[in-house]
Amino acid sequence: MNIMSGQCVFGQKKHLFFLPLSEKKKKNGPKSLRDLRAERQAQAERSVLVSCHPKTHENKFLKYLSRHGNVNKCFFYESFGTYAVVEFSNQDGVQSLLESAAMPSVSHESVVPLRSRLLSLRNVNTVDTDKQSAPSANHRELCPSTTHSLTDENTRLRFLVCSLLNDIAAAYFPQSSIKPFGSSVNGFGKLGCDLDMILDLDGTICVRPQPRSGMYMEYLVKRTSSERAVTQSVLSVIAGCLDQFGPGCVGVQKILNARCPLVRFAHQPSGFQCDLTASNRVAMRSTELLYLFGELDARVRPLVFTVRCWARAHGVTSPIPGAWITNFSLTIMVLFFLQRRNPPILPTLDRLKELAEPSEKCVLDGNDCTFTSDFHRISLETNTETLDQLLGDFFEFYSTFIFNRMSINLGRYGKEHKPELHPLYIQNPFETSLNISKNVNSSQLERFVTLCQESAWLLQSGSHLNTLLLPSHISVVRGRKKRKSQPASERIKGLLESLRIKNNVSFGFTVFF
Ligand code: GTP
Ligand code: MG
Repeated sequence: MNIMSGQCVFGQKKHLFFLPLSEKKKKNGPKSLRDLRAERQAQAERSVLVSCHPKTHENKFLKYLSRHGNVNKCFFYESFGTYAVVEFSNQDGVQSLLESAAMPSVSHESVVPLRSRLLSLRNVNTVDTDKQSAPSANHRELCPSTTHSLTDENTRLRFLVCSLLNDIAAAYFPQSSIKPFGSSVNGFGKLGCDLDMILDLDGTICVRPQPRSGMYMEYLVKRTSSERAVTQSVLSVIAGCLDQFGPGCVGVQKILNARCPLVRFAHQPSGFQCDLTASNRVAMRSTELLYLFGELDARVRPLVFTVRCWARAHGVTSPIPGAWITNFSLTIMVLFFLQRRNPPILPTLDRLKELAEPSEKCVLDGNDCTFTSDFHRISLETNTETLDQLLGDFFEFYSTFIFNRMSINLGRYGKEHKPELHPLYIQNPFETSLNISKNVNSSQLERFVTLCQESAWLLQSGSHLNTLLLPSHISVVRGRKKRKSQPASERIKGLLESLRIKNNVSFGFTVFF
């Protein structure tokens, strides 16, 4: 595939699929995650989140908002109630709206007098009582289905939640920034995935060179035994603040003794399950790497999605923590497989490191996290394998993978011997002495391998993809027992359909819906 030409042909005798990239991509190549983040963050900072009556009259609402400033975008969604995300064209609109807002007057309770960009619309005249007027197409766009990839609106909301939470953290650390990472931004997220966030205090820590002579100033600060202790105390305070004063933040748990300390809570107005960490710079870098891999070839994301969906349908992954393979591990497994195609569909991490400019050198917490993010520097030989071929070969690849001797690492070819005894060894891309799948026990790995064998077998015998995703179907077909096959679940159909539409690519088998 030639990334820059903006075309990708998935060739099979019967199916030739053409993937036009967007006009922007054609001209300039894909957008870097850094640029994408900056754009989303700026949108979020000039946005407010408004709790509304379900029958809010949109036009009246927009007219009211436009008295405060020009509205760039406004959409409604349902979570625990109806909400509107309103993006003004500049900060003045937000300020004007906030200045016009009042504190609620309550008679039997007291309120925490915290003013934030989370508002509640309280004018009966904006309620549409006309039964004829159905909600417009703009209304309730964020459908709660959990099998579709993230929409533009859902991504906007994720950045807005980070921005709202940052307003609270900034009361302590004005230079802080709360940023999303993980599947909310790496391109592998689906609706309903958790919102992983990092409280980035790097803006606060400014190390200036000390002058050789004369006076200079330093901040007088408290000192603790380690960076971990600082992270724990910062997160502990922020957790307390979110719990007691954070509008919409419920079920706040401090999980400070984990390898990576975090605060977990639910943000009710958005419906997101949130994990807030601090000083987790390496995870931010992993997010950038996964984003880059996803952008390099149009087949990467549909394949990862399908494998993740297959894994969920068969209980290989689980929302409950345990001895299961995680989505993150599974994603690395797919990327590793794609690096080993002939010709490779993805470059190794070492290759991306070689291609990096001196300015891209990046060492975080003692780990070399250097790689190029410049799409123009990465050239790949043409590989025209189809998605259906790749899916079948993925199952085949892991059916025969020598897990007891080999490790999975994105670094380089031929350096795959396992350094320790855990059943599954997936090297952390940047903290290379760590195994990201050491939680996986041998029975879970065996189950994964058996399912891969059965799925490879099913595909070879001409079964359709939706058959493969039926939880009960694999063992039934394999055992040649006669049982009434169940219809493909709506969730899985939805996922495949959304992938097909979104990526304008197709699996040979999706035509059988
Ligand atoms: P889903 O939330 O399942 O959609 O995927 P996710 O990629 O967001 O995974 P998760 O929420 O579990 O973790 C968020 C991010 O933390 C991942 O994208 C990784 O960058 C990082 N991460 C997750 N698990 C590990 C791990 O075991 N080791 C390390 N070093 N980083 C991890
Ligand atoms: Mg996540």
